[in-house]
Amino acid sequence: MTPFLRSPVPSDYDALASWVCDSAACAHWAGPLLTFPFSASELPDLLSGEGASSFSLVNSGAEFLGFGQLVEKSPNIVRLARIIVAPHMRGLGLGKTLCQLLLAKAANHPHAEILTLGVYRNNPVAISLYSSLGFVEAPPHPRPEVLAMQRSLSRG
Ligand SMILES: CC(C)(COP(=O)(O)OP(=O)(O)OC[C@H]1O[C@@H](n2cnc3c(N)ncnc32)[C@H](O)[C@@H]1OP(=O)(O)O)[C@@H](O)C(=O)NCCC(=O)NCCS
Repeated sequence: MTPFLRSPVPSDYDALASWVCDSAACAHWAGPLLTFPFSASELPDLLSGEGASSFSLVNSGAEFLGFGQLVEKSPNIVRLARIIVAPHMRGLGLGKTLCQLLLAKAANHPHAEILTLGVYRNNPVAISLYSSLGFVEAPPHPRPEVLAMQRSLSRG
């Protein structure tokens, strides 16, 4: 069965904390506002910004495979954020599945038209992932080390 999204449960945050092993990995995943180290129990609060919704990617065996967020920036702009796949499951297409499921969720926002994200320029795997999903370079991000990307939200 295809992996699906559900709301995170406490054990997801335990696993997620174990996937992020140093400050560089933390920055790649979550940007500069989440400081490393953190504890799993702090993560729900640390990740609960205004307009943010969190989702866990799981398989039919209830195995937690990945995590991501949608952040409503304005009525027509939704941001994809904090995308991560379990380290031992990377390179298998799950990052793409996770993002595609999040894009489908974003389409439920009644006025959403544009999806945005920010990715470190020294994260080629993530840039390649987002490019493969139709994201293109957007106007420059205030921090030069970050690539801003966007795509329109097509409704089928
Ligand atoms: C970025 C990340 C989510 C990708 O997840 P993944 O499951 O490994 O990615 P997928 O297997 O779905 O691959 C999707 C695309 O990414 C690219 N990609 C994946 N692995 C790659 C690699 N080793 N080298 C180059 N590109 C790669 C490819 O474009 C691939 O598409 P394709 O298979 O059609 O060519 C994962 O590496 C991760 O969790 N990284 C740590 C957290 C992070 O950096 N998050 C990004 C926040 S902006």
